[in-house]
Amino acid sequence: MTKKTIVITGGLGFVGTNLIKKLEKKYKLIIIDNLCTNKKRYSQFSRNNLLIKKDINKKIKLPNKKIYALIHLAAKGSVIDSIKNPGENFLANTIGTFKILEICKDYKIKKVIIASTGGAIMGNQNPPVDENSLPKPISPYGASKLSAEAYCSAYAHSYGISITALRFSNILGPYSWHKKGVITKYFKSILNKKPLIIYGNGETTRDYLYVEDLCDGILNTLKKKLSRFEVLHLSSGKETSINDLIKTIFKITNTSKFKVIKKKLRNGEVNRNFSSNIKARKMINFKPKYTLEKALIETWKWFKNHSINA
Ligand SMILES: NC(=O)c1ccc[n+]([C@@H]2O[C@H](COP(=O)([O-])OP(=O)(O)OC[C@H]3O[C@@H](n4cnc5c(N)ncnc54)[C@H](O)[C@@H]3O)[C@@H](O)[C@H]2O)c1
Repeated sequence: MTKKTIVITGGLGFVGTNLIKKLEKKYKLIIIDNLCTNKKRYSQFSRNNLLIKKDINKKIKLPNKKIYALIHLAAKGSVIDSIKNPGENFLANTIGTFKILEICKDYKIKKVIIASTGGAIMGNQNPPVDENSLPKPISPYGASKLSAEAYCSAYAHSYGISITALRFSNILGPYSWHKKGVITKYFKSILNKKPLIIYGNGETTRDYLYVEDLCDGILNTLKKKLSRFEVLHLSSGKETSINDLIKTIFKITNTSKFKVIKKKLRNGEVNRNFSSNIKARKMINFKPKYTLEKALIETWKWFKNHSINA
């Protein structure tokens, strides 16, 4: 049987690299990535697939074949960078998504999944948030993802495309060396014997999900027939403070003598966040399997083995 073709934007990033490993057995993949975030680091994983090295804002010509689905991951994903350079973030995330939707319309791609965010889109509100909570972003990154979702809703209804916006929580796992999130920073600090930095008093909370569980959620979404436009939170549904995260990191890395430095909370970062995953459990049979401790153990193994070449 011939394999169906799937286009993945941002396929050479952290989530994309993990996802490609799962998808390439079953599907033919076309990856679009401008290599801006990871400087070819993980491009070895795209060897078996067609790689289009291009910015999503440039004119992209796809091979003339039937495309079953498109998964849009390409984005500038840092809250702090979006505050420093909101224009760059808007161009990559909002206009970039618009350009990708135009491709879906032109190439008659009928199934689309886009990566959104569960925390930054919501701003400061009482957790747990869910799909009925009113998004109130407090950073340009959150705003860029919310406006991208709005265009997805509009294109789904105007052009008959089935689009699902998956709001990821904070993802951890292998191939995240280049990321700017707290787990990457703490593992790098431990490897380099440097102090761990906490912004705020350590009671800031997040919802951490292992990348393997996230990718299973994306795969389930791909297989399911959903309505025109759907939003789903892919999260652990659990709230973890930075203080508790550090305790678990110390436990699994067998280190406790590291100095912890506290700095002022940064603008744009939400205080508390975790999301309910009940809708995703019902609609796409989403069942995260990894506890945070197990996810940290797997991620730490990867960081230790890859610290030299990464
Ligand atoms: N990792 C997380 O914790 C997390 C949480 C919430 C949402 N998300 C979203 O999930 C998606 C994937 O995140 P990730 O962690 O893999 O990020 P990443 O930075 O590792 O990967 C993004 C990839 O997109 C590419 N890219 C960026 N801008 C591009 C452009 N204009 N044209 C072409 N390629 C471009 C980069 O080169 C990179 O390979 C993003 O949309 C992100 O906003 C991630």
